[in-house]
Parts: sequence; structure tokens; C-alpha cells
Amino acid sequence: MDLGIEKKVALIIGGARGIGFSTGYEMALGGAKVVLSDIDGDAAENAAKRLADQTGADVIGMRTDISSLEDVQATVAAVTEKFGAPEIAIITAAIVDDKLFMESGPEDWQRMINICLYGPLNVLHTVLPSMAERNYGRIVCMATDSARVGQARLSYYAAAKAGVIALVKSVAQEVGSSGITLNVISPGATDTEIRQTREAAMKEQMGEDKYEARVKKVLRMYPMRRIGEPEDHASIIAFLVSDRASWITGQVLSVNGGFLMA
Ligand SMILES: NC(=O)c1ccc[n+]([C@@H]2O[C@H](COP(=O)([O-])OP(=O)(O)OC[C@H]3O[C@@H](n4cnc5c(N)ncnc54)[C@H](O)[C@@H]3O)[C@@H](O)[C@H]2O)c1
Repeated sequence: MDLGIEKKVALIIGGARGIGFSTGYEMALGGAKVVLSDIDGDAAENAAKRLADQTGADVIGMRTDISSLEDVQATVAAVTEKFGAPEIAIITAAIVDDKLFMESGPEDWQRMINICLYGPLNVLHTVLPSMAERNYGRIVCMATDSARVGQARLSYYAAAKAGVIALVKSVAQEVGSSGITLNVISPGATDTEIRQTREAAMKEQMGEDKYEARVKKVLRMYPMRRIGEPEDHASIIAFLVSDRASWITGQVLSVNGGFLMA
């Protein structure tokens, strides 16, 4: 499928690994100029080299802390100088905290909100003006099914992501007339570092047997009987930023093997 993104500039924040990197691969195959930015600058640069070698596309990697407006502005300025203003912005950067709400405190909430909610606010505020000027833009943010139905031990992560959904729907109403679409992917459990780290801690805490029983229980909640892979999301994000999806905006799409059907 021709995505219609050839030579377009695609900025992926959180692109060093996981769903962000996998989406970078799709963008590169579609002929876009790709920027993989991440708080882990070294990993972003290595990932960019890897992607350029694999696909022959124009790819750069750089460090950005999405929670800092100045950092995001500096990244977009550098990208604009190198490739041109971003026409596609995909925000995959996030952290997760596995804690009961009553065991958490203001510092935990602040860190989460800074990255998972201020992050998208910073990016949208920075990239939208030039998109509006060109009358073209594609933005995809990531939420989580826990933002839609809640999840014990993930309360303030879920709250921040619910904010992202509200943000995207609201801004989509403001900028649709400028040819800009914004959508949200809501992933179910997906095999990336953010999940692997949480699972490893759980295994340590529960012991091998209880953990294995939990893995089986989790799989039974997924009608497709597997958890997701980064590629499951990347192909859908590629569709959402493509010309084929130019009339889809303000939507939340669960990509979750049927875990939540809402
Ligand atoms: N993997 C899952 O099970 C799952 C489930 C639901 C939602 N999600 C969402 O999907 C998105 C992608 O996550 P993933 O699974 O690819 O995780 P991942 O851990 O593989 O990638 C997340 C990336 O974000 C980067 N990052 C963290 N803080 C940052 C900051 N301040 N500035 C810039 N970059 C930062 C990390 O360095 C990492 O490279 C996230 O928004 C996550 O909340 C993932």
C-alpha cells in the first residue's frame, strides 16, 4: 500500500525502541525522512543508524526529553533545519509506574504527568503552527486501555493517558479545518521494554510458579491468545498517518487482540 508519505518528515518521540522504533521502520519503508528522538540519546542515534542501514532511508537520531518544552522546541528546530518542518509527529515516549495509588505520592504523579501528559502538550504546541501553515499534518499519540477502563497499580499512568485522549479529541476539533488529523492508539499488553521491566519485577516479587500462572491468566483475557508485538501497532500508525486515513481524526483505536472491546 502506498502510504503517500514519500519525502515527508516524520518525527517520532520515543523512537529509540519498541513501538516507536517499529513505526520508524514503517515510515522509512514508506519513503519518509525519519527522526528517531528519545531521552536515551545514544540509543536513538544507534537506532537511527540501524534503520538507515536496513532501509536506505534518511534517518537521524537525537536526544529529546519530551517533558521539557525547551527541549522539544530545540528538537523541532534542529529537525526543521536538517529535513524541513515535521509533517508527521508520532509520540510514543512514556514511562510506567507499578504502584498502588495509596503508596504513591506527589513526586510520582508529577514525573508521570510531566512525561505522559505534558510531553504530548509540548509536542502538539510546537509542531501544530507549521502544520497549519502548510494545511497538512498527521499526529498519533499513544494511550492505553487502562486509560479507558482503569487498572489497579497504574492509576496515575492511566490518568495521564486519559488526559492525552481528551487532548487529542479537543485539538482535533480545532485544527481539522487546517488539514491536520490527530488520533490515538490504545495498546493492550505489548512485548516491549516498558512491559518487560514491569514483568521482570513482578516475577521477582511473585516467584516463578505464581508468575507463570499469572501469565496464563493474562493470555486467557486476550481472545487472540497472545500479547502484542511492536509491529502490531506500527502498521496501524502507518495507516493513520497515510493519505488513506485522511478522513479519520479524533479517534481512539484499541490495538489489543480483543482484550477490551469498547
Ligand atoms: N508495551 C505495552 O504493553 C504498552 C501498553 C499500553 C500502552 N503503551 C504505550 O505505548 C507507547 C510506546 O511504548 P513502548 O511499549 O514502545 O515502550 P518502550 O519502553 O519500548 O519505549 C518507550 C520509549 O520512551 C522513551 N522515553 C521515556 N521517557 C522519555 C522522555 N522523557 N522523553 C523522551 N523519551 C522518553 C524511552 O527511553 C523509550 O525508548 C507508550 O506511550 C506506552 O505508554 C505500551
